[in-house]
Amino acid sequence: MRKLSDLPNLDGKRVVIRCDLNVPLDGTRITDDGRIVASVPTIKYLVDQGAKVVVISHLGRPEGAPEAKYSLEPAAKRLGELLGQPVFFASDTVGSEARGAVKALDNGGVVVLENLRFNPGETSKDASEREAFAAKLAEFGDFFISDGFGVVHRKQASVYELAKALPSAVGLLIEKELDVLTRLTSTPERPYAVVLGGSKVSDKLGVIDHLLPTVNKLLVGGGMVFTFLAAQGHKVGSSLLEVDQIDTCKEYLKRAAELGIEVILPTDIVVASKFGADAEVAVTAADAIESSPFGDKGLGLDIGPDSAARFAAEIASSKTVFWNGPMGVFEIDKFANGTRAVAEALTEVQGLSVVGGGDSAAAVRILGFADNQFGHISTGGGASLEFLEGKKLPGIEVLND
Ligand code: 3PG
Repeated sequence: MRKLSDLPNLDGKRVVIRCDLNVPLDGTRITDDGRIVASVPTIKYLVDQGAKVVVISHLGRPEGAPEAKYSLEPAAKRLGELLGQPVFFASDTVGSEARGAVKALDNGGVVVLENLRFNPGETSKDASEREAFAAKLAEFGDFFISDGFGVVHRKQASVYELAKALPSAVGLLIEKELDVLTRLTSTPERPYAVVLGGSKVSDKLGVIDHLLPTVNKLLVGGGMVFTFLAAQGHKVGSSLLEVDQIDTCKEYLKRAAELGIEVILPTDIVVASKFGADAEVAVTAADAIESSPFGDKGLGLDIGPDSAARFAAEIASSKTVFWNGPMGVFEIDKFANGTRAVAEALTEVQGLSVVGGGDSAAAVRILGFADNQFGHISTGGGASLEFLEGKKLPGIEVLND
């Protein structure tokens, strides 16, 4: 894979860089700027080389047409603050404003173009439409740098076709992500624990399937745990349940036992009368959720205190830990303890601790942890999971080609 350092002198050259600036917003306020921060080193490298830098990204999932709430303008502003230099924002992607802005760039200047997904060609299922859109983007650059790790699992114009249209190289962020994630799949130091949470077990099937033979311990919490508890024959009240996945979970529990892998499920659960900050709560045994005062109406919204302590101890004593998915509804303080305990324990790992992107990355920052307390916080949610599932990622494959 061609790296930045393999490129010729970039002074005065136009470089299009695909970043993943898809950050969570509350109106125009960025609630977690982690992906922008992670994009800075490569952009800074290009600036320092005297390149004319054209940053492209998506934000959210608009459907091929502009929608104000998905504008990249707040991200462009934040990027300027982090770089400590003016960053121009073009309010279209390949229209006259973008063309003018790219033309006007000085050496070391940076422009961010508007959301790629405002253009139907970006995500089109039709390869020729994606190629046509990529060809327009390619007019803005002499080189293409791929650095949007969060999106490398998407076969989209700016990720795949554009990498074919221009001389391309991988950016520093993707290099680092691949390096860390490869350590998780090839030679992890042991004991190796994987901690999975989040709402849906169906999102994690591939990763459980692929990692099961590699890990020593699999810890499960979050909404997905109720399908595992149901697979053990327990009633889960009104908690999240994927009935069609119960048999799959049974199968995983059986396979894990055969392989001698410890699957650690919570032994107690924080059960709520309803979903919300004003809910009443009770702690029950995980195999007796319906014994709470709320009966079969009770909702499990976090792992209980005993489980949080056990999970923390298992994590802190491991040498390699990968964590994806919150243990409970961490956005509401009374259901955040499990997630907080897991995050805290990851900071104590004497070895490699990796926080998978998406919700878990947002959770650690919202709960007040700093990025440097962890070995690595991935910027990819779906992308890091697909990598760990052993899938081929189009945005990486194309660079290998
Ligand atoms: C993400 O948030 O995982 C990436 O930015 C990819 O976004 P997408 O799932 O909308 O393609």
